[in-house]
Amino acid sequence: MKKGTKTRWLLAGVGLLAMPLVMQAQDAKMNTFISNLMAKMTLDEKIGQLNLVTPGGAVTGAVVSQGVEENLKKGLVGGMFGITGPAKIRQAQELAVKQSRLHIPLLFGLDVIHGHKTVFPIPLGLSCSWDTALIRHSARIAATEASADGLDWAYSPMVDIGRDPRWGRVSEGSGEDTWLGSQIAKSMVKGYQNNNLAANDAVMACVKHFALYGAAEAGRDYNTVDMSRIKMYEHYLPPYKAAVDAGAGSIMSSFNDIDGIPASANKWLMTDLLRKQWGFNGFVVTDYTAISEMIAHGMGDLSEVSALSLKAGVDMDMVSEGFLGTLKQSLAAGKITKQEIETACRRILEAKYKLGLFEDPYRRLNDQRAADIILSAQNRQEARAIAARSFVLLKNENQVLPLQKKGTVALVGPLADNHRNMLGTWSVSGDFDKSVTVRQGLESVAGNAVNIVYAKGANISDDTTFARKVNVFGKEIEIDSRSAADMVAEAVAAANKSDVVVAVLGEAADMSGESSSRSDIGLPANQQALLKALLATGKPVVLVLFNGRPLTLEWENEHVPAILDAWFGGTEAGNAIADVLFGNYNPAGKITASFPRNVGQIPVYYNHKNTGRPYNNEFESKFKSNYLDVDNSPLYPFGYGLSYTQFQYSDVVLSTAKATGNATVTASVTVTNTGKYAGEEVVQLYIADPVASVTRSVKELRGFQKVMLQPGESKQVVFPVTTELLKFYNSNLKFDWEPGEFIIQVGTNSQNVKSAKVIWNK
Ligand code: BGC
Repeated sequence: MKKGTKTRWLLAGVGLLAMPLVMQAQDAKMNTFISNLMAKMTLDEKIGQLNLVTPGGAVTGAVVSQGVEENLKKGLVGGMFGITGPAKIRQAQELAVKQSRLHIPLLFGLDVIHGHKTVFPIPLGLSCSWDTALIRHSARIAATEASADGLDWAYSPMVDIGRDPRWGRVSEGSGEDTWLGSQIAKSMVKGYQNNNLAANDAVMACVKHFALYGAAEAGRDYNTVDMSRIKMYEHYLPPYKAAVDAGAGSIMSSFNDIDGIPASANKWLMTDLLRKQWGFNGFVVTDYTAISEMIAHGMGDLSEVSALSLKAGVDMDMVSEGFLGTLKQSLAAGKITKQEIETACRRILEAKYKLGLFEDPYRRLNDQRAADIILSAQNRQEARAIAARSFVLLKNENQVLPLQKKGTVALVGPLADNHRNMLGTWSVSGDFDKSVTVRQGLESVAGNAVNIVYAKGANISDDTTFARKVNVFGKEIEIDSRSAADMVAEAVAAANKSDVVVAVLGEAADMSGESSSRSDIGLPANQQALLKALLATGKPVVLVLFNGRPLTLEWENEHVPAILDAWFGGTEAGNAIADVLFGNYNPAGKITASFPRNVGQIPVYYNHKNTGRPYNNEFESKFKSNYLDVDNSPLYPFGYGLSYTQFQYSDVVLSTAKATGNATVTASVTVTNTGKYAGEEVVQLYIADPVASVTRSVKELRGFQKVMLQPGESKQVVFPVTTELLKFYNSNLKFDWEPGEFIIQVGTNSQNVKSAKVIWNK
């Protein structure tokens, strides 16, 4: 043994042993501190910690509305959300810290979903980057801005798997896939918390919405969920579990029921699964009024549902004031125990302790840091690069894109020069006036080289009732005083004068998001009419889409030569779109949710089961699991997205065709850039398990790598395949693999893959 090696080995050993000891000591210190504090707390004060309030719009001058202010001074509030900024938060914190009997600091939370003031693409868009480091980085920037703005706690990540694009909240998640969703969940938690909750620039993550919220029937928000255990375990629960394993400090309960019991009162979910099976040691907050909503669910009156919720394992009540108003009486009536209140109170105090708030309740309040960091040039630059990486090129016939930096571009559409809709849903702290529109982006990137002629062309929708519903947060849909015909005529005139048309169409920001379910997910009819008129000019048309969900685009796909899905790209979206349109950045995003051909196909997702009567595109097949009037396949499959260049895949080569036990089999392909542009490709690994003790999905994503290739360059991409990747939940909910044949598939999307087989024995 070389000199020094042994010492290093010993030190490494000491490190391994010492780590848990340090943590144990820290925990013991925290426990003693909290026990001492709790010994001084009255029952009311303990229940007060479980109370989360929002002063909402009432936050002017006096910081909080009267009732809240009184409760703060009495120690009857554990946390607040809905206020931002060091000044306001300091005022509220001072009320709690200086005027309440025990000086317990408040926890300040907010919906920091895709950035704080510098807004990044909506989460569905971010997921299309398939770049977990980038997504983590976006969460890190969001945390630095949010914490500089006084916040301790971000209501993110939203990790609900969504297979139904009618549900508006697919915009807030990472798409339909469990495996990718789990990687992203982990990255976001790490980005927010940065493995050090006490740091001034970290915020505590709040994983939501636990659980299964994405499976609301018919895609209607807040609707019933009913699902088999095996489907929960296999497809819906893993992203929450991944976030817990990554150390998420808190979890938000969902609105829906599970096995007939709303999540916020579901003991199996909140205690048996979350705490006993998964070992979660943070706290659970309900979603907004989820406790009082259980009255409408039919679970009893406020006192009954509050008691049920606490007993299930929920710790904090968001806004219902059911805990504050009824738990004391329920304790007296013997419906709940003192221990149950104490456990919840302890968990909230632990969160505050871990966030360093007892040490310094004002630690995240620093005007200078806020001024330096928030919306800094650096953050905006990063947002621009991140946005470009979220876009997906859906079609590019005859290489219409990238555009040349010369001639005249007709820039048309209700979203082409529209600050109001740039940021997308859930950008509560974002200032849309600070966003860059597509028009501004094109003008800045193309400079004087290109003549840009703008025309609005159409309203987002002409339907006034629909517009009123969408416009709850402001005038996202503005109905022009001009007639539809006049606006189209102006756009056609612009197109006729131009070499190419860029039509920026799609949804208003709040046509997706919470409470924004749609039964028709196509472009509104008036926008389609504009598109048809533009195509009729014979000029090449590039359709740039703003959308918070997969849309039905069969007509557009058939007739429009180029389609770029830009989702809602955030503060710098306009610049990022211009970067992509003019070829300064070659798009590489791939969709993470299948685009259906029509609404009747929903849910359509890549990892469906085979059924006993699989449909294999046989001509005029009958008595198969298919439709009479539409194909089974989506318009664009999961994982699909084009580039300005082309990639060629070699066959898949496995290191062996026969494996045993815990071997590692490598699957390699060589990917070659055969086109003219440098570009990135997301190489995807799928595994199929054709015979098992339970029916399996036709394939499951089990890996991906994003590679950059220069024109003509080839790279070998190697995936190590272990038995971990073969595991699934059997009918006893045991997570294991079964011997047999596996088909290893590598390709550019879930449909277009090369395959090789391996026989794997135990
Ligand atoms: C949403 C949550 C959000 C909460 C607080 C609820 O309506 O479902 O996602 O975190 O409001 O704003």
